[in-house]
Amino acid sequence: MGGFELKWFVRVAVVLMMVPEILGWGKEGHYVICKIAQEYLTEDALAAVKALLPGQAEGDLSNVCFWADEVRHHYHYRWSAPLHYVDTPDFLCNYKYCRDCHDGHGHMDRCVTGAIYNYSMQLSQGYYDLNSEKYNLTEALMFLSHFVGDVHQPLHVGFIGDLGGNTIVVRWYRRKTNLHHVWDTMIIESALKTYYKSDIMLMIQALMKNITDGWSDEVPSWEDCPKLVCPDPYASESIHLACKFAYRNATPGSTLTDDYFLSRRPVVEKRLAQSGVRLAEVLNRIFTKKPSVVAQ
Ligand SMILES: *[C@@H]1O[C@H](CO)[C@@H](O)[C@H](O)[C@H]1NC(C)=O
Ligand SMILES: *[C@@H]1O[C@H](CO)[C@@H](O)[C@H](O)[C@H]1NC(C)=O
Ligand SMILES: *[C@@H]1O[C@H](CO)[C@@H](O)[C@H](O)[C@H]1NC(C)=O
Repeated sequence: MGGFELKWFVRVAVVLMMVPEILGWGKEGHYVICKIAQEYLTEDALAAVKALLPGQAEGDLSNVCFWADEVRHHYHYRWSAPLHYVDTPDFLCNYKYCRDCHDGHGHMDRCVTGAIYNYSMQLSQGYYDLNSEKYNLTEALMFLSHFVGDVHQPLHVGFIGDLGGNTIVVRWYRRKTNLHHVWDTMIIESALKTYYKSDIMLMIQALMKNITDGWSDEVPSWEDCPKLVCPDPYASESIHLACKFAYRNATPGSTLTDDYFLSRRPVVEKRLAQSGVRLAEVLNRIFTKKPSVVAQ
């Protein structure tokens, strides 16, 4: 009896500990990314996306970019939990698909980059073979849009030893939280309050202005991808940013205030913009108008 209770307790504790890691950018982050992505879709891609969206999206991709985090708690989708992140070896500050992309049981491809390959493949195959019922393309679209966001959150490619910052307890100003959550949510929330009158559309506009303005020299290199999809370089960028910005000066017990916020906010905002641009790119590549045999 006691043994049973202890096991139950340990399992609940492990589940509670694991939950924050798979929550991805907070709701706001995913919303911003998908709003931006939608702005850069071609006519064909936008039509294809709208045709696949479920009713609850009301024709707007950004309304379902958080879906993967919501269903992850349902029994039927528990298998998808490891697909939100990839763990890398402590302090190496690099990422390798073959070494790192597996779940806790060592099953290959079960990580965020593997999932991005999986769902972009499903969408492109399904789009060319619409009669195929092999895949649920609505789910593939919602998963892909979510995971392209997650792979850009630096601590979703963080160290395995601290579960991507989840076990690093810090204070965000006066609030007790953990480092992972600071990067998923707190920096974005503080930025919204401080710079955008808590209006998410103002943040989106500012980021889009920078995409066509301040960052226009860099944007072509963000889009550079010789394949259907390129999640591996995005994961490498993330772990580099995690080492350079997220983990630095954020040891267990630290209190993070203005110094940390002001220097990390630009990193977070640029990652949101990059992620939006890249999501649009991959959807545009997937949904390029099918060459019509009849018309030729
Ligand atoms: C690929 O997608 C299918 C359908 O959702 C899923 O069952 C499978 O676990 C996925 N695998 C990876 C590595 O994402
Ligand atoms: C595909 O997935 C969506 C979202 O989970 C669901 O509502 C729909 O019923 C699924 N379609 C099929 C054919 O299973
Ligand atoms: C826009 O880009 C400039 C120059 O890189 C940067 O200083 C500023 O913080 C950016 N604004 C936003 C909203 O990210």
